[in-house]
Amino acid sequence: MRAVTWQGKRKVSVEDVPDPRIELPTDAIVKITSTNICGSDLHLYETLGPFMDAGDVLGHEPMGIVEEVGSQVGDLKVGDRVVMPFQISCGHCWMCDQQLYTQCETTQVRDQGSGAALFGYSKLYGQVPGGQAEYLRVPQAQFTHIKVPEGPADDRFVYLSDVLPTAWQAVAYAAVPAGGSLVVLGLGPIGDMACRIAMHQGVENVIGVDLVPERLERARARGVQVVDLGAHEKDLLEVVQGLTSGRGADSVIDAVGLDAHGSPSAKFVQTVAGLLPDAVAQPVFKTAGVDKLAALYSAIELVRRGGTISLSGVYGGMADPMPMMTLFDKQVQLRMGQANVKRWVPEILPLLTDDDPLGVDSFATHRLPLSEAPAAYKSFQEKADGYVKVQLKPEL
Ligand SMILES: NC(=O)c1ccc[n+]([C@@H]2O[C@H](COP(=O)([O-])OP(=O)(O)OC[C@H]3O[C@@H](n4cnc5c(N)ncnc54)[C@H](O)[C@@H]3O)[C@@H](O)[C@H]2O)c1
Ligand SMILES: [Zn+2]
Ligand SMILES: [Zn+2]
Repeated sequence: MRAVTWQGKRKVSVEDVPDPRIELPTDAIVKITSTNICGSDLHLYETLGPFMDAGDVLGHEPMGIVEEVGSQVGDLKVGDRVVMPFQISCGHCWMCDQQLYTQCETTQVRDQGSGAALFGYSKLYGQVPGGQAEYLRVPQAQFTHIKVPEGPADDRFVYLSDVLPTAWQAVAYAAVPAGGSLVVLGLGPIGDMACRIAMHQGVENVIGVDLVPERLERARARGVQVVDLGAHEKDLLEVVQGLTSGRGADSVIDAVGLDAHGSPSAKFVQTVAGLLPDAVAQPVFKTAGVDKLAALYSAIELVRRGGTISLSGVYGGMADPMPMMTLFDKQVQLRMGQANVKRWVPEILPLLTDDDPLGVDSFATHRLPLSEAPAAYKSFQEKADGYVKVQLKPEL
């Protein structure tokens, strides 16, 4: 089959790879109909190379039709239309019982000290072949799937794999008080959707920050107050205070993560790590400060005293200086993590209707054949040509 593979820093290619097979009774094989590129894939493309091997199949936002099942997949059947959560979880361990599916004790990647295995996401998360491919092997398939109805186009449901639950959890963790304010840093797919969800839930004062004109415009068109970081890098705090009774925001969502604009100090470590052999570079990544924390620092600055920061942007590394005094003195609550996808699906599914309150049907900016993945990664990373959300379609 054809699959999108990682080949090196800023290099992906579409290759012929062996078709996946059922390996365990809990596996299923899904024929992929739509599969998105995510901002998280850009971290692999740019920063997390030491955890990748050439040929690794990328992708964690797929949906399709069940082609084949093992003998222990519960009620999953050949022909079912399914979306896969980006994390692989068993549904029956202690963590899954708490709905902490990203911490599944059956699939935790213990040799790396990581949580649940993820599709297409480096050795840190189990090096499981991903879903930017014609077919996907789904481990723990008895639980690792979301059945969706026939009828509407894939656009209606495909974001259940990641964007919708991630943005939903970001808003839930942000815990905006009644009548309160929310700043969303980053208006990529996650931040954009977080704004939509917050407004749908009745948050009136939603302020979105980014520096890409089309992304600012997309959010503005849906009623978000936007602030262009390009014009307000120096006075962002004053601007936000002006919109939040002078105190700062009740809640801040960081939907940027580790490749943030404005953190040049990490460039050096990152570049050096990129030049080292993987065995040497991996510990550098885990212990040195490669995180590029600009967005997180902004969040800490912009949140009001006693407010809440909700991190959905992905961070790594351990030694980055955290302004502990400020966090403590401001009495900030900090909540974070990968989204526990199936925890939120029952709340989201009723919104995926013809009325389309969250605008999922028109959310993708690009729908391309799998063969165009290399160019799509490049344009998405460069935020060129209006790229916000890219769907790859193996059948095109
Ligand atoms: N927690 C989870 O489960 C989960 C799931 C999916 C994605 N993510 C993470 O969420 C983040 C966003 O994902 P995405 O797909 O929207 O990515 P994206 O790269 O398309 O969007 C990030 C946006 O942040 C903007 N930005 C950069 N620096 C900024 C700064 N200093 N202040 C404000 N905005 C800034 C960029 O211009 C861009 O529009 C990524 O880190 C991704 O890895 C987390
Ligand atoms: Zn994703
Ligand atoms: Zn589990």
